[in-house]
Amino acid sequence: ISVDVVVLGSINMDLVLKTERNPYPGETINSDNFEIHPGGKGNNQAVALGKLGASVLMLGCVGRDDYGRKLVQNLRSNGVNADYILEVDDSTGIAFINVFNGQNTIILYKGANGCCTVDAMSPYVDIIKGAKILLTQLEIPYETVKWALKIAHDNGVMTVLNPAPARILDDDIWPYVDVLVPNEIECKGILGLDGDDVTYEAIIRELIGRAVKNVVITLGAEGCIYNSGDTIMRQRAMATKVVDTTGAGDAFIGGLVFALSKGRSIDEAVLMGTRVAGIKIGFMGAQDYVIDPSGLI
Ligand code: RIB
Ligand code: NA
Repeated sequence: ISVDVVVLGSINMDLVLKTERNPYPGETINSDNFEIHPGGKGNNQAVALGKLGASVLMLGCVGRDDYGRKLVQNLRSNGVNADYILEVDDSTGIAFINVFNGQNTIILYKGANGCCTVDAMSPYVDIIKGAKILLTQLEIPYETVKWALKIAHDNGVMTVLNPAPARILDDDIWPYVDVLVPNEIECKGILGLDGDDVTYEAIIRELIGRAVKNVVITLGAEGCIYNSGDTIMRQRAMATKVVDTTGAGDAFIGGLVFALSKGRSIDEAVLMGTRVAGIKIGFMGAQDYVIDPSGLI
């Protein structure tokens, strides 16, 4: 089997409550809106690629439960090859999401995503080797992410890492990362930095110095900042009404990787990501947006 993009990552069900604000410790507040949406960073990114018409396959784990079955079906109905998703003996990953004022907080239960070990993924090594691009995140075991990036890189497959949720990354991971897409918080977390005394430009230059080819830092409503060769570039976000920002970064990455899989430049890819994210934030849920791929590339 040969596909353009392999997404190795998490698959969650998102349980979303809308409130006016976040509760304080010990406080109970009411919500009058509860929704269940497919989620998980890997899943969201794979579905974004599928919606755009990419040739895309997802590797990951779900539980033997109702959410797991629905999530696999959802991948398929969005045009993603889900034939190699494993069903394991843990419950499907869950994200408790509070949406307030177009912002959100997320509590993650990794569940089945924790079963994405190197052993469990090893049978699919040829699928990774045969791809044009490997796309992965940090909601599955870190050892597996490193293993897959190295295999991809050693076999001439372009690698894209979304280091989310952030953790400090080992120095030996950078040679295996071609494109790194953190958000404004993660770009500091991965390097063990905090505070405002370091600029995004300095972070990008630091990472390029460690052999990452392209760094794209997403900045929410401020758009993104990235390098095109040696030049630091900025791209504005699309001006749209914000309904829910959950998964906006994932939609951005889906658009970006789609364009890269079509051989487009990093500048064109960033523009595509910006457009897809702009569409996503007009809808509730990480994946329930409607996109017409014909107008985009
Ligand atoms: O990036 C958004 C995603 O993060 C949500 O869908 C949730 O499942 C968490 O993984
Ligand atoms: Na690299």
